[in-house]
Amino acid sequence: MSGSGSRIIVALDPPDDVNVVDWCLSIIGETRDLVAGYKIGLPLLVRLDSINELSLLARAMGDGLLRIVDLKLADIGDVMVSSIKPFIHYGFNYFIAHSFIGCRDGLGVLNSFLRENNAWLITVVSMSHRGSVEVMDSIVDRLLEVSVNVGAWGVVAPATRPEIIRFVRKHIGSRARILSPGIGPQGARPGDALMAGADYEIIGRMITRNSGPRHVVKEINKIHESLLGEG
Ligand code: XMP
Repeated sequence: MSGSGSRIIVALDPPDDVNVVDWCLSIIGETRDLVAGYKIGLPLLVRLDSINELSLLARAMGDGLLRIVDLKLADIGDVMVSSIKPFIHYGFNYFIAHSFIGCRDGLGVLNSFLRENNAWLITVVSMSHRGSVEVMDSIVDRLLEVSVNVGAWGVVAPATRPEIIRFVRKHIGSRARILSPGIGPQGARPGDALMAGADYEIIGRMITRNSGPRHVVKEINKIHESLLGEG
């Protein structure tokens, strides 16, 4: 399966004992022709020497791939906009925010800014860890309503609870993509989320902590391909 058909988004969360930029560039170099995109977040960002290093990473990922920044934003609209401006400047184009903050003066402002800058919003409606059932999962219908109203490009729902993915797919139809983390160390298997209706699986450690990331990506693509009947 080529990169353009792949359903894998690699989460670039570095281990403790590496130079984070070299580590990312090595994984990107080994996998970029085989994946749909990459996701960066705080575990990487807090260890950059300079924000300029973001442009190195975005350039290495290349234009055709999803370049996702996962800050799980949850602030007022104007503050979220100032937080993501540098990432847009350095070439990132998808941004994850929480849906519970709502549209007015919140996600609406963020999404307008993103659309003006050829960038896209992804909202979180349920999370992969068990604590998500304590609050988020009981209001997932309302979180979805916010996501649909704001016009999110995609929503995050957990591979660890496929029933939530099925619920999300039933309610949003084809209005937004579903991106699912939770594969490997968190318990789900590659393909579980896709079979429940997700479009992409966000996979970190299962790929990045393996000594052969390219091999693992190829194996997961094969699993996806056979489950989805693509060839
Ligand atoms: P692993 O190594 O467990 O990494 O495959 C998973 C990645 O996904 C992120 N993550 C989430 N992001 N909603 C999100 O928006 C979630 O429910 C969620 N669960 C995990 C995590 O930060 C890591 O980068």
